[in-house]
Amino acid sequence: MVYDNIVLIGFMGCGKTSVGRVLSRHIHKKSMDVDHVIEEEQESSISDIFENKGEEYFRSLEQKCINALTEKTSQIISTGGGLPIYSTISKKSLIIYIEADFDVILNRLSERERAKRPLFYDEARAEALFNERVDTYKELADFCVDANQSIPTFIHVVLDYVLEKRIL
Ligand code: S3P
Repeated sequence: MVYDNIVLIGFMGCGKTSVGRVLSRHIHKKSMDVDHVIEEEQESSISDIFENKGEEYFRSLEQKCINALTEKTSQIISTGGGLPIYSTISKKSLIIYIEADFDVILNRLSERERAKRPLFYDEARAEALFNERVDTYKELADFCVDANQSIPTFIHVVLDYVLEKRIL
């Protein structure tokens, strides 16, 4: 099977955007980040969109954005943590789950990074959300990578998989 794009999924702070950037350097594909595209198009931060327009509106932007991105090919697309829960992703995407435990995620996210994420203001609520979502991430994924170690440590596992499968 030849896929159009690689789509990275996983909870907030698991490292999707960083993995996307590193992968794109290695395999010379364009790296796109759904949250960044939305922020640019809306000329507004994710926090402001949540605050002014609400979560439901943000979810509709995510669906439109992933639809538009997956119309093109040969990209590595990083998604927001909720995107695979609320949106459908083109079947012609290779979905990779960046699988990190909640305590690892907590360590990875600085206060500043947490503050950018409206669903991470409350740690207990974020953990409950994490527990609700993990099964869906696993079900959707074509490949799961153990992301509990640093990105340079696990990125070669993703790279080997992608290169061996010759997916793009
Ligand atoms: C969200 C994750 C965020 C961002 C928004 C909502 C979520 O992206 O899309 O704050 O519902 O998990 P990251 O996964 O890049 O933090």
